Amino acid sequence: MINHKTNVAIFASGAGSNAAKLIAYFSNHPHIHIQLIVCNKPNAGVISIASNNNIPHILIEKEQFFRGDAYTDILEEYQIHFIVLAGFLWKVPNLLIQHFPNKIINIHPSLLPKYGGKGMYGHFVHEAVLQHKETESGITIHYVNEEFDKGATIFQAKCPVFETDTPETLATRIHALEHLHFAPTIESVICK
Ligand code: GRF
Repeated sequence: MINHKTNVAIFASGAGSNAAKLIAYFSNHPHIHIQLIVCNKPNAGVISIASNNNIPHILIEKEQFFRGDAYTDILEEYQIHFIVLAGFLWKVPNLLIQHFPNKIINIHPSLLPKYGGKGMYGHFVHEAVLQHKETESGITIHYVNEEFDKGATIFQAKCPVFETDTPETLATRIHALEHLHFAPTIESVICK
């Protein structure tokens, strides 16, 4: 599709609740278009979310992503300008980062630099937060660079952690924060 909007590809590996929120928020947006869903898991929920919203998706595999062109050709074919990671569990290869300088952002379910890095995703993050008896947690939206969860922070929001929390109750509170803040933050980055 040729248009003058910023075309965004959402990379996701899982249920896709954040992707669904982004798709809803940006439908009919004057400057931002969700052009493509990129997924690395054949049965991930995000694929049916893409189909239900008539958004094309591609399934990627390790060899081409890490040792090939990192799908840069296909992303060019789709005229992608900006990449949003929404629960994408593979590290982004340097080739892709170089192709999209300062144009890849990620959401992480903790207050980075705490509880980030390799292996810190999903319930592992919330378990670690509870184990360390933190009294607050939150979300971080940040640029993606060559190191896992270490790019410059764009936005953080906090929420309390209660003694009675389980990883599940904390995850629900964190997801609510993500759903509230991710789309407006992306909008402010792209439309600044
Ligand atoms: C979110 O908590 C996000 O922070 C993390 O993965 C989760 C994805 O959830 N990186 P969903 O697939 O968007 O529901």
